[in-house]
Amino acid sequence: MSAPTVPSPILAPPHVLSLLLRLHALSITQENMLDRDMFRLDPKISRTQNFRDIMRDKFIALEQDKCHFVYQLCLAINAKNIVEAGTSFGVSTMYLALAIGRNLEATGGKGVIIATENEASKAEKAREHWKEAGEIVTKYVELREGDLRETLKADLPEIDLLLLDIWAPMALPTLKLVQPRMKKGAVVIVDNTIGSALAYKDLLAYLRDPESGFTNLTLPYSNGLEMSVYMPMK
Ligand SMILES: C[S@@+](CC[C@H](N)C(=O)[O-])C[C@H]1O[C@@H](n2cnc3c(N)ncnc32)[C@H](O)[C@@H]1O
Repeated sequence: MSAPTVPSPILAPPHVLSLLLRLHALSITQENMLDRDMFRLDPKISRTQNFRDIMRDKFIALEQDKCHFVYQLCLAINAKNIVEAGTSFGVSTMYLALAIGRNLEATGGKGVIIATENEASKAEKAREHWKEAGEIVTKYVELREGDLRETLKADLPEIDLLLLDIWAPMALPTLKLVQPRMKKGAVVIVDNTIGSALAYKDLLAYLRDPESGFTNLTLPYSNGLEMSVYMPMK
């Protein structure tokens, strides 16, 4: 008797599934060669030029199991407008675009994944990957190149989900920019909230303040994945 296979929620053509697998594998290989303490211990490190230089050719993609969760969550909440803070080479973007496509097919309307990346070479590589995936992804992606503290200042639709997969000091400023456009029940996902708890100190204090309007739950994915729901009283 063969072992039961683990189900995957992702519905996509075979070439997209194998592209995603290939990119996750590349990302893991790179990360295994990185000194992870660099991220965890010094919240200011990501502001240095040396850090940017090291990271310029690194994926640091959201892990596959977390991507599957976020995709499934997008289906559950019928997410159509999403902001992704931190796009890198475009891996998590593809899952979000696929989920938006499925939601639009099921319930109609319009949708977009607003991707953000400030390294031009990473943005270019992300576009290549999306092109390889094809229209099923490119149709829904709007890439805003540059510092997201500028690029997210205007023209945001009502947001269903915000993925914060970004250097820790950028997370709280991003949330504050997007929050006024978040609908009631919008979800904020933050990666590595256990592994990088120190670096995320300000963000977590903001989210967990009893007056914040957010309900918070730390999911037991590796290094923690925070799922916060925006439920303001008024
Ligand atoms: C962890 S990676 C994102 C990985 C991506 N979500 C994925 O799963 O493939 C974080 C990315 O955020 C980008 N970034 C950092 N600060 C930024 C800023 N101020 N504006 C836009 N992008 C930024 C970095 O260049 C990096 O590529």
